[in-house]
Amino acid sequence: MKRFLMCEPKFFEVCYVINPWMEGNQGKVNSDLAKQQWNNLHDIVAKLASVELVEPIAGLPDMVFTANAGLIHKNDVLVSSFRHAERQPEAQHFAKFFASRGYRVLHLKEETIFEGAGDALFDSKRRLWFGSGIRSASHALEEIVAALKVEVHALELIDPHWYHLDTAFCPLPEGQAIAYEKAFSGASVNALDDAFGEDIIWVAETDAGNFACNAISIGQSIILHKASAELKSALKQRGFEVIETDVSEFLKAGGACKCLTLEI
Ligand code: ARG
Repeated sequence: MKRFLMCEPKFFEVCYVINPWMEGNQGKVNSDLAKQQWNNLHDIVAKLASVELVEPIAGLPDMVFTANAGLIHKNDVLVSSFRHAERQPEAQHFAKFFASRGYRVLHLKEETIFEGAGDALFDSKRRLWFGSGIRSASHALEEIVAALKVEVHALELIDPHWYHLDTAFCPLPEGQAIAYEKAFSGASVNALDDAFGEDIIWVAETDAGNFACNAISIGQSIILHKASAELKSALKQRGFEVIETDVSEFLKAGGACKCLTLEI
């Protein structure tokens, strides 16, 4: 059974701007609605997997996005080192959590920016895809290889709206994936096409804007905020079941279903 880490939105709000989605949304989060949406997502995930919770900390509103806590590989966790000062204090809390759960806590060099599973995703063949260009530093790649001894493929993100790899790419079971082309450099689009061939679904702009690539995949279920009829039928044809759950309040902070979870 898969296990996911989540963090209750007790202190969630938009009170600074570190990505384009947050612009104009300061003070606009409906906290009650956010809690309700988070509970719905939690319950959906908890039916298909087990869920662990990390204590939310006052003053760290983006801690709900546990995907950015770090990158897990076996019993190791490579803890994030955030680009923006607003999120930097989260790292110590996540590190403490992982240590308390018996993980071996690893860090990259102090000046190396790395935003965890937001920018580093394993596919079903255990190849690690690492996205840099907006948040994580490209040179983190060599350090990830050295720390975790895994095969890593670099992808270049080119649009600030798709600032984390998991906003534009989601590996699925059995060698499949969904992705949004405009988030990537031409070379990275080619790299994904070469690696996934027919098995990659390139989503339309509307789906990308609805954070359809920010999906949680558990077995044949794909949990996401919203998907078009086309995307749903493409996924259905491949044997997947799409579960939509509204996370509109979290979209105001530039995140959706997948970034509210971390597979541990
Ligand atoms: N406001 C957060 C940030 O900009 C959202 C993070 C979403 N996380 C993710 N893995 N995409 O850092």
